[in-house]
Amino acid sequence: MSSLLLTVLLLSVPAAQAKHTAVDPYSRQNPRHEKRYSYRQWMELQEDFAMEAFEAHSHLPDGLPGSVIASPERGDPDYYYHWVRDGALVMNTLSDFRERGVWNPSLIERYLKEYADVSRLHQLEMHQPKFYVDGRPYTGEWCRPQNDGPALRALVLIRLARVQLAKGNGLYVRDALYDGKLPARTLIKGDLEFVAHHWRDPSCDLWEEYYGDHFYTRMVQRKALVEGARLAEQLGDRGAADYYRQQAKDIEIELLKHWDAVAGIFRVTRNYRDGASVKADGIDTAVVLAFLHGYTDDGFLKFSDPRVLSTLDTLTAHFRKLYAINQQPGIAGVGIGRYTDDDFNGQRGHQGNPWFLLTAAMGQAYLRAAEEIFDEGGSFKRAFALYRKGDSFFRRLHYHAKGGEVLDEQFDRHTGEMLSAPDLAWSNKETADGAHVWKNVRRKLNTYLKSCGADLSASRNRKALESIP
Ligand code: NOJ
Ligand code: NOJ
Repeated sequence: MSSLLLTVLLLSVPAAQAKHTAVDPYSRQNPRHEKRYSYRQWMELQEDFAMEAFEAHSHLPDGLPGSVIASPERGDPDYYYHWVRDGALVMNTLSDFRERGVWNPSLIERYLKEYADVSRLHQLEMHQPKFYVDGRPYTGEWCRPQNDGPALRALVLIRLARVQLAKGNGLYVRDALYDGKLPARTLIKGDLEFVAHHWRDPSCDLWEEYYGDHFYTRMVQRKALVEGARLAEQLGDRGAADYYRQQAKDIEIELLKHWDAVAGIFRVTRNYRDGASVKADGIDTAVVLAFLHGYTDDGFLKFSDPRVLSTLDTLTAHFRKLYAINQQPGIAGVGIGRYTDDDFNGQRGHQGNPWFLLTAAMGQAYLRAAEEIFDEGGSFKRAFALYRKGDSFFRRLHYHAKGGEVLDEQFDRHTGEMLSAPDLAWSNKETADGAHVWKNVRRKLNTYLKSCGADLSASRNRKALESIP
C-alpha cells in the first residue's frame, strides 16, 4: 500500500464516509474520477482503491455496520442495498487483505465481525437475495431464492472462524459461528446445512434472471461444503464433515455435466425452468466467475485444466466479435460482458455491454493459469503467453477507466464510456483480486527471466524472451 494513500485514508475517514452522499456519482465531479494513473501505477494501487471503495460502501449513516451497498446509486438502477452475494464477495476480498497485511488487520477483523452480526438478520430470511442497509429484507418482486448467497456468506465466515480459532477465540467461534447442534443456531452451521440440503433445488441465477441449475451457484456451493467440512472436522463434528464432503462429491458429478465438448465450454445453466430457448449457445461469463470464486485448491477444475482454458478462449473470441469497441485497433485486450442477448444496461430492454468485473475476471483466470503452469514447472513460454493474455484485459480496463479509481458496472459497447450502476464495489473487488495475482505472476516470471538475462518490462529483450524454452 502506498504510504501516502494510507495516511490520507487514515486521516480522512469521516470525509470518506461523507463522499457518497455529497457527490452525485453521475456528475463525474467525484474527485476519485479525476486522478489519472499510468497502467503500472493503476495496477499497483488496485488494492488501495478497493479498500477505499469498500469503506465508502459500508458504515453508512442510515445503515447497520456490516452492511455493504453494491453501489451508491439510489435512482435507476437502484443499487443501494446489501446483496448477499456482493456483500460476501467484498468481505472475501477483505479477508484476503487481512491475510496479506494490505490494511490494518484489527480494523478488518472488526468489519468482519460486524458482517457476522448483520448476517444473523440476513440468515433469518435465507431465501432473500438483498436487504436494506438497516437489515430488513427487500420484499418487493424479485428473482428469488438465489442460492449462491448462503454459500458465499459461509465462505467468508469460515475464514473468520479459522482466524479466531488460531487466536484462541474458540468461545466466540462456538457461540456465534459454528457448533454442531441441530437445528442450527450458529451462522456457519446454518448456511452449511442449508447448502447441503438444498443445492439440488432450482434457484435463480446470479444475474437474477433465470431459474435452473447453474454452474456458478453449484461451484460456490461445492466450495462452501469442502471448506465447511474441514472446519467441521477441526471442531470435532465428524459426522457433519463426512456428510458435507459427500454432498460436495455429488455436486461435482452435476458440475461436469455442464461441459460441452463440441462448443468447448462449460455451459452456464442446465434444466432451465423458463424454457429451452434461453441462452441457446450456453455462453455466459458467470462460469469464469465460478472458476474464480469456486476454486478450492484441490485440483478440481483448476485454471490450467484444458476445459477451463478452452472456455476462456471461446468466451473471449465470442465477446471480441460481439462488441464494436473490441474491433477498434490499437487498444489492448477484449471487453467481456455477461452473455449474448443481455439487454441490461442499467435498465432492461437495451443492449448489454462489457462489464468491468467480468473483464477483470477473464484477465485473472488467465493469470491464474499462467501461475499454475509456472509453479508446476511447465513450459515457461506457455506461462508467459498466458500472462500476456491476462495482462491485456487489465490494460483494456485501464483504458476505459481512464486511469481513474472509480469503476462503474459497465462500459458502453460502442463508445467505451462507463455506464450503469456507478462506483460498483464488485468491480473494485475483481480488479483488486486480479491485480494481486498480476503482481505475483510478474514477480515470479521476472525472477526467472532475470536469471536468463531478460526482463518483463523491456521490449528490447524480445530476442532473449523468444529464446526461452
Ligand atoms: C437487476 C439485475 O440484477 C440484473 O442482472 C438484471 O438484468 C436486472 N435486474 C433485470 O432483471
Ligand atoms: C446486478 C447483477 O446481475 C447482480 O449479480 C448483482 O448482485 C447486482 N447487480 C448488484 O451488484
